[in-house]
Amino acid sequence: MTLTASPSSSLTGHITVPGDKSISHRALILGGLAVGTTHVTGLLEGEDVLATAEAMRALGATVTRTGDGTWEIAGVGVGGLSEPATALDFGNSGTGARLLMGLVAGHPITATFVGDASLSKRPMGRVITPLTEMGAEFHAREGGRMPLTVTGAPVALPITYPLPVASAQVKSAVLLAGLNAPGQTTVIEPHPTRDHTERMLRAFGAEVSVEPGPQEVTVIRVTGQTELTPSDVIVPADPSSAAFPIVAALTTPGSDVTVSGVMMNPHRVGLYTTLIEMGANIDIQNEREESGEPVADLRVQTSALKGVEVPLDRAPSMIDEYPVLAVAAAHAEGTTIMRGAAELRVKESDRVAATVAGLQANGVEVEEFEDGMAITGAPGQVTGGGTVLTHMDHRIAMSFLTLGFGAEKPVTVDEGEMIATSFPDYVALMRGLGATLSSEANS
Ligand code: S3P
Repeated sequence: MTLTASPSSSLTGHITVPGDKSISHRALILGGLAVGTTHVTGLLEGEDVLATAEAMRALGATVTRTGDGTWEIAGVGVGGLSEPATALDFGNSGTGARLLMGLVAGHPITATFVGDASLSKRPMGRVITPLTEMGAEFHAREGGRMPLTVTGAPVALPITYPLPVASAQVKSAVLLAGLNAPGQTTVIEPHPTRDHTERMLRAFGAEVSVEPGPQEVTVIRVTGQTELTPSDVIVPADPSSAAFPIVAALTTPGSDVTVSGVMMNPHRVGLYTTLIEMGANIDIQNEREESGEPVADLRVQTSALKGVEVPLDRAPSMIDEYPVLAVAAAHAEGTTIMRGAAELRVKESDRVAATVAGLQANGVEVEEFEDGMAITGAPGQVTGGGTVLTHMDHRIAMSFLTLGFGAEKPVTVDEGEMIATSFPDYVALMRGLGATLSSEANS
């Protein structure tokens, strides 16, 4: 299905975006491991998270949808997962696949992991290496790609693992395997990444410590083979999804949009810090804490933006937001430089290449680097008119639709259906703000 975003006059209104994807995956996983029933509200019911729900069922947990975004998970206890009878299908979701590889690696069971064409291209070596050290056995396609089969360790070895890449998925996979290892599993993180696993493990009663180590590293330890107790989870709104209506409001003339209850975890808000440095009028209102996470309402008005150089060490806190930041940069006076983000090349698509190609197709000046890009904006004069290849990547699709609302000519993306992986009601929600979006079935 193609989707086309047309220049829109003004976006206005008060909205809520769906629950956070990272927290939704983790709620299903830890709920499935706890002894007793976990209640979740605000779960993101996107395809990625639904794949994790299905996988947890296949591993023995009882996962029940009781209403819109409300779910109940009856867990099997740490060590209690059963071997799935068929392959686990993670669709487009790297997070679901990598976190569950950690989980299976810590149990004496065998499971096969499959996914769509995008997920089957993504590197799994980054989790295979530490999980093999812990005693699991992997049989993967060449280059450590899926489909792959994991046989978990009979008794997982608690290891100490310095993360070679700044990746919350790798950190979480090792910690989840460590939950069933006798003793302390340690992850050393050179650059801080999202800490939802650590926070939620603590809420479920796990023994977790997070301490600063030498040379600014963070040392995270989990003690294995302790029981997890259910903790109700209220999933806050996803800052990575909120980014799309927020950048749309900033760059579409005459807009005034409030997004309520957005999670403001410091490891997730790099985009907002950067936009404010660019001159964005984002008013952070009603700051509060919900379910252990800071949240706030964000009121956004159309703003005159200027180019900035994004600090390298900000990358982990905005790793999913570079494509939509590129859209803001296309509207900014001057040049925005984004570097230190080589990880973008191994996301749902090669997001450096896909973003650069999408910008070029819409008349935006951009220079590509191995680890990022530089964009020279044209305030009020973004041409648009291009068709963008989505490469099975929801965030590429939503980023370029965002470009279309504030451009001179409409922008089309070729795989609008990918948006359902993370933001199923995106089209309805944007139309509710006044955006012009049309869809057409592919011939
Ligand atoms: C996620 C971690 C990030 C992010 C992904 C979600 C998570 O990936 O890009 O969308 O929930 O742990 P990496 O850990 O590979 O950087």
